[in-house]
Amino acid sequence: MSTLLVTGGCGFIGSNFIRHLLATDRAVSVINFDCLTYAGNLANLADVVDHPRYRFVKGDITDREQVRAALRLGVTDVINFAAESHVDRSIQDSGPFVRTNVIGTQVLLDAAREGGVKKYVQVSTDEVYGSLGADGFFTEATPLHPNSPYSASKAGADLLVQAYEHTFGLPAVITRCSNNYGPYQFPEKLIPLFVTNLVRDEPVPVYGDGQQVRDWIHVLDHCTGVEAAWRRGKPGEVYNFGGRCEKTNLDLTLTLLDLLGKPRTLIRYVKDRPGHDRRYAIDCAKAERELGWARQTTFDQGLLETINWYKANATWIAGIKTKDYLTYYENQYDRLQ
Ligand code: NAD
Ligand code: TYD
Repeated sequence: MSTLLVTGGCGFIGSNFIRHLLATDRAVSVINFDCLTYAGNLANLADVVDHPRYRFVKGDITDREQVRAALRLGVTDVINFAAESHVDRSIQDSGPFVRTNVIGTQVLLDAAREGGVKKYVQVSTDEVYGSLGADGFFTEATPLHPNSPYSASKAGADLLVQAYEHTFGLPAVITRCSNNYGPYQFPEKLIPLFVTNLVRDEPVPVYGDGQQVRDWIHVLDHCTGVEAAWRRGKPGEVYNFGGRCEKTNLDLTLTLLDLLGKPRTLIRYVKDRPGHDRRYAIDCAKAERELGWARQTTFDQGLLETINWYKANATWIAGIKTKDYLTYYENQYDRLQ
């Protein structure tokens, strides 16, 4: 029997991960440790709240005593999803990013050491590698070159994890995944923002020329990757996960418009995000080879299901506690048209 401390479990990926594990492994109990920032939403796990192997603990990963107390609940393993995760917010104010992503990780690592956990999984991002030109892919050997305060804070956390593994023998692994999409994503991120705007016939803000490339993966495929890294990952190793599905932002926007039957006149080209990374693309051959991981969801199928989920879950969107994402880009970047 394993008892996982899943931090950030009320966010997008953490909530999908918890639902997936509870449904697929009877030998796993989950303690969801989350301080409920603007992105943390108890409604994301409303369907498992009474599950006998699930427990929610409200707590902040930067608070040493709260983290220690949570670990004393019989925790065997830690999966760290908790983070400030939105690049645009990190450009506006990097403070919460350094606090949660770097200091929070350090506090968790110390507690995991003290608690003698069997495995510590750090959920990181491909953004720590920086930006690619037209060719090539990020491998686990690509040097870290973070460009945004968000990715710099995630890279700092990754380096701490590697140092704790090396210095103290903490059995830690790092996962680095490309852009996720799927149900329960906070609607400040491209796909849920654009879908929820378009459903209401509201315009969608495309940054710069829209030619930036992202590699899209369904959130459940990321979750099975994190699970594989937890079960079979070798301490000290990094595992990349990606969708082998590169799209320019403009192509993706046009696909969303077509699938929702909306006119192209709803596109607004706005001033580019400062320091905007041009292209991300992941080589995930190591995870396929060493962890036996494989993606299950094609982009066409997953995107359609995701659109239908947002259409069918208007009350979830209406219940989101802060609405600033609706006008976020207008405050941040000048509109060009
Ligand atoms: P999210 O913003 O949807 O959720 C983050 C969760 O962490 C929220 O529930 C929030 O309340 C919680 N949290 C924040 N600060 C906390 C703190 N100090 N203590 C406890 N809880 C705290 O993020 P997400 O998209 O689900 O991303 C989860 C993880 O996956 C992050 O570490 C992110 O860097 C990584 N990641 C995300 C993507 C993506 O496409 N979304 C891709 C690769 C990696
Ligand atoms: P985002 O979902 O914020 O993820 P990330 O920046 O971590 O990759 O953005 C995905 C891409 O979409 C990124 O290139 C920025 C772009 N983008 C827009 O063009 N308009 C928007 O309103 C948002 C939120 C993102």
